[in-house]
Amino acid sequence: MKRRVAVLISGRGSNLGALIAASQAPDYPAEIALVVANRDDAGGIDLAAERQIPTRVLPHRRYAGDRAAHELAIDGALNDAGIEVVCLAGYMRRLTPLLVGRWRGRMLNIHPSLLPAFPGLDTHARALAAGVKLHGCTVHLVTEDLDSGPILAQGAVPVLAGDNAETLAARVLAVEHILYPSALRLFLTGGPPPAGCSTAALLNPAPLAGANVRA
Ligand code: GRF
Repeated sequence: MKRRVAVLISGRGSNLGALIAASQAPDYPAEIALVVANRDDAGGIDLAAERQIPTRVLPHRRYAGDRAAHELAIDGALNDAGIEVVCLAGYMRRLTPLLVGRWRGRMLNIHPSLLPAFPGLDTHARALAAGVKLHGCTVHLVTEDLDSGPILAQGAVPVLAGDNAETLAARVLAVEHILYPSALRLFLTGGPPPAGCSTAALLNPAPLAGANVRA
């Protein structure tokens, strides 16, 4: 029996797309049963609707700064849909202890850096400025502290000579799309993935042969 997973988004929803694609495999342990957006222009809402996945748009602006009321509305939507696990995927609004507490241990996030390096925004530009040689993405459990919960899986990519924030972001994003479905599978099953699937914990899917690693 597949677990009922909701995905919270604010934007284009490419990680949502990767989770939906993975969930369509008969042996994948989750179905994407609800997509919630806090912006009515989130592109991922159209993507979900095209796939006949139920959507809820709950713009935070309608709650006039009342974060608790907004989070209670999200919590209500999750409970109404019988959701068991929540995946944040480009959800760009910081959650308060109210919603985090209600979903503790059942809410995952994907962050575009190798945490604990570069929590917060503009991770790719900050990685370049710091001169790191490896960058990547992290799937972690959500806690009250921003981008600081227990790490479930990480994917690394090299930083290449000539990279700018956009090229580096694209390289990381390709890994995010592999990592998030793998990490969710691992989280839900607690066991090793079937043969042929990426193992989690540390994932290095980028081929390094010939890579011109940034000096
Ligand atoms: C991703 O880079 C994710 O790591 C970050 O926000 C971005 C969302 O992209 N939290 P998308 O909406 O999934 O395409």
